[in-house]
Amino acid sequence: MRVLSGIQSSGTLHLGNYYGAMRQHLELQHEHDCFYFIANYHSLTTIQDGSRLRELTFHVAASYLALGLDPARVTFFRQSDVPEVTELAWILATVTGKGLLDRAHSFKDKVARGLPVSMGLYCYPLLMAADILIYRSQIVPVGQDQLQHIEMTQDMAQYFNNTYGQVFIRPEPRLSEAPVVPGIDGQKMSKSYGNTIDLFADPQVVCKRIMSIKTDSTPVEAPKDPTRCTVFALLKLLASPEEVQEWEVRYRAGGMGYGEAKARLADLYEQTFGPYREAYGRWLARPDDVEDILRTGGRRARVVAQEVMDEVRSACGIVTARA
Ligand code: ADP
Ligand code: TRP
Repeated sequence: MRVLSGIQSSGTLHLGNYYGAMRQHLELQHEHDCFYFIANYHSLTTIQDGSRLRELTFHVAASYLALGLDPARVTFFRQSDVPEVTELAWILATVTGKGLLDRAHSFKDKVARGLPVSMGLYCYPLLMAADILIYRSQIVPVGQDQLQHIEMTQDMAQYFNNTYGQVFIRPEPRLSEAPVVPGIDGQKMSKSYGNTIDLFADPQVVCKRIMSIKTDSTPVEAPKDPTRCTVFALLKLLASPEEVQEWEVRYRAGGMGYGEAKARLADLYEQTFGPYREAYGRWLARPDDVEDILRTGGRRARVVAQEVMDEVRSACGIVTARA
């Protein structure tokens, strides 16, 4: 099975990225033909500073490698090393009604927050569909917020096939066990909401963030509802199932303060991510090796993309002088 996913290089990676998306990317590498890439063209919709984008792209690559991505198993690359995706995005735009893009939550959310909307942001789903279809991806593991983009991709594949004949296959989304990880304010964790707990942050910084997780004002002695508590939601991700059960009993029994659960969460964070933070530091010191890995992956990915694009151009009657 061809599995594909991308992550933008638009900020620091956080627990939402890891438990919502990256952890399943890493699990799937053992069973499938995985293509994972850094969506740096997409990042241009938010990062418009060349040196910052270069740096973030390198940081996302080092993060995946530190978390255990095996470049010998995975085709790991930068989106921009396969420029054909932008060509496919254009072709998909010509068979896609504007109404489909008008319905995208991601840009409606930005409009609602009063942020400016560039054409790049508006067309974001076209480029994402191109990313998926150009590698004939069958499974796309993502967090819940990306589901609509994948449904749009299915629609675009259908529009193209209806117009030009069967070229694209229908990709299916795959959600992790934590499709929406809450941030410290209880909303979805997201870099754009400023509520993240970052993956490789300094232990003291993380501890402070964890201690500032919003909880209700139930007194220590009173029973508490674990299903409505962000600390418990995060404990569920980091603790063993047995420990989670114990916490659940303690929440419901009362006599436990949120501070205690937070302190345990901070410990578990350190146990889990401390070793990854060290590995991250080691990859940061090897920029040439990271670059080699991305280039090798990019060359492999491009071969697949070029084959598919030959079929696409031939179906549409686009003649190029390329050999
Ligand atoms: P952000 O919302 O911080 O900008 P991205 O859009 O770059 O994050 O997300 C990269 C991947 O991580 C996507 O597959 C997305 O669905 C997933 N993801 C991001 N935040 C969360 C979250 N809070 N819970 C679950 N998955 C998430
Ligand atoms: N939109 C995704 C995000 O913000 C990143 C992305 C770009 C992607 N192209 C993709 C994810 C293709 C899966 C498949 O997280």
